[in-house]
Amino acid sequence: MTDKIQALLQEVREFQAGNPEELEAFRLKMLSKKGLIPALFHEFKNVDPQQRKQVGMELNNLKNEATEKLNSLKEAFENQALQQKDQASRPDLTMPAVRTPLGSRHPLSVTRNRINSIFEKIGFVVSEGPEIEDDWHNFSALNFPEDHPARDMQDTFFIGKSPDLALRTHTSSVQVRVMENQKPPIRTISPGRVFRNEAISARAHCIFHQVEGLYIDEGVSFADMKQTLLYFAREMFGEKTQIRLRPSFFPFTEPSAEMDVSCNICGGPGCNICKYSGWIEVMGCGMVDPNVLENCGIDSKKYSGFAFGMGIERIAMNIFQMKDIRMFFENDLRFLRQFRSAY
Ligand code: PHE
Repeated sequence: MTDKIQALLQEVREFQAGNPEELEAFRLKMLSKKGLIPALFHEFKNVDPQQRKQVGMELNNLKNEATEKLNSLKEAFENQALQQKDQASRPDLTMPAVRTPLGSRHPLSVTRNRINSIFEKIGFVVSEGPEIEDDWHNFSALNFPEDHPARDMQDTFFIGKSPDLALRTHTSSVQVRVMENQKPPIRTISPGRVFRNEAISARAHCIFHQVEGLYIDEGVSFADMKQTLLYFAREMFGEKTQIRLRPSFFPFTEPSAEMDVSCNICGGPGCNICKYSGWIEVMGCGMVDPNVLENCGIDSKKYSGFAFGMGIERIAMNIFQMKDIRMFFENDLRFLRQFRSAY
């Protein structure tokens, strides 16, 4: 009996499990009901009474050692499994990084941001308004007569059958809203999308973008406007830029002018960008008509102001030397990716 116990003890001590299955097989062999150790306990009753104490101790010791060994191996396997799970859920810091595709700003956003920041530097504040406008804000408050051609279906996208709702044809409508809600001094620019019912071509589109500006205070003069626009032209197109103001007409300004800048490509003598004139038309402008001020609740005897408005597409086409306005709206990645370095 003692020999058998010693032999099993030896086996228990030498046992190593390569995996949990081997460990379980060992447990079954040694300690399960039909295992070798319970079998020895069974045999114990045949042991000589004089040896019982000794053999009993050895037998108990065998059982304890076997149980402890099993438990510690089991625990080791469990820890190992936990560690593996933990490692699998942790990022592998040696893996090469996934490349983040670099986007680019749309050339119209780049141009608009530049225009905005030039005016923001001299105290203009950006204001925005709805793209669907009523007649008052888009036309009437701006002194458009009842029979003005812009009010024609040919030029304006009306919404449904109502003659009162249309897609705004300019962002001057936003400035009406500003004048109605704020007291002078007012210095604001309104960038935004506008809509006109025009045939789409390389030079014209039914959707385009504008930045319009408005400055109202006591004693604002035409000379203030000219100086402000000269500052803008030089910031935008280069410090050598010249401007010229040609008489024009808008219902909401009097007097009105069209502003040209000297061609930033050829610098004057003429090229195919300026159509060999040396000048590029950039914006409409003028002194706000007193009727418009009164329509918006501003005392035209006390206050005067100037307004201007430009198409972002036209300026962007000039800066980036593009020939077709439709490229802005096609979202062709080959086109857009060329503006990665613009900001
Ligand atoms: N609103 C005019 C347009 O859309 C531009 C403009 C604004 C002209 C302000 C003069 C003064 O064409």
